[in-house]
Amino acid sequence: MSQAKIIAIDGPAASGKTTLGVQLARRLDYLFFDTGVMYRAITWAALDRGVPLDNPEALTRLAEEVVIDVRPPSRDDGRLSDVLLDGQDITWEIRHPQVDQNVSVVSAYPGVRSALFNHQRRVGLRGHVVMVGRDIGTVVLPEADLKIYLDASVEERARRRYAELVARGASARYEDVLEDMHRRDRIDSTRAIAPLRPAEDAVILSSDGLEADEVLERALALVHQCQEQPSRE
Ligand code: DC
Repeated sequence: MSQAKIIAIDGPAASGKTTLGVQLARRLDYLFFDTGVMYRAITWAALDRGVPLDNPEALTRLAEEVVIDVRPPSRDDGRLSDVLLDGQDITWEIRHPQVDQNVSVVSAYPGVRSALFNHQRRVGLRGHVVMVGRDIGTVVLPEADLKIYLDASVEERARRRYAELVARGASARYEDVLEDMHRRDRIDSTRAIAPLRPAEDAVILSSDGLEADEVLERALALVHQCQEQPSRE
């Protein structure tokens, strides 16, 4: 039996998708692709260039014009990959709280999503990939061999995001992070296009109360149980 070649991991913010995706890709020697960085890159570019965030046409044009490149990390400063926008390294800029606060709104615009869709799908269909996002199993790669929907309670996710911000030296209040997490969940899961939800054939895993290693072991067991889908365009 051949193991899963295309693995989709979806779920809400800070549920542990990135940690799981990176570790899974390392263990399988697959490419790790975090699609969230593309929406973050567009949001950062809009803030940087003064493109109004309530103007879907202008944001769509921006998403169509810029070149986003995600490459293996060039520096040992904790980054998982380099994120380049028109050649400029914006790896850390896209983690700024102002990007966190606005990315859900930007990523809800259909034009922005379709500008990024083809690139994500092309990378995914090459296989040997762990792709992480909100709509990978439902929209971007419905033919994925294995779809994992990683969930955790909103309080647990806010605690994790708060700890990440503090570790990076950012000033933040837990209450604000929690409120923002509620707001982002609401926008991500109620938007008209590609809302956050598990695919019908996704395996739902909860990372509440589990160490990252335990989540990884459960996911690896699923990879080995799972057969590659026979027909793929
Ligand atoms: O995973 P993240 O927090 O970096 O994602 C940033 C935002 O991008 C989040 O608000 C949801 C959105 N997103 C999306 O709509 N679809 C994806 N495939 C990935 C992320």
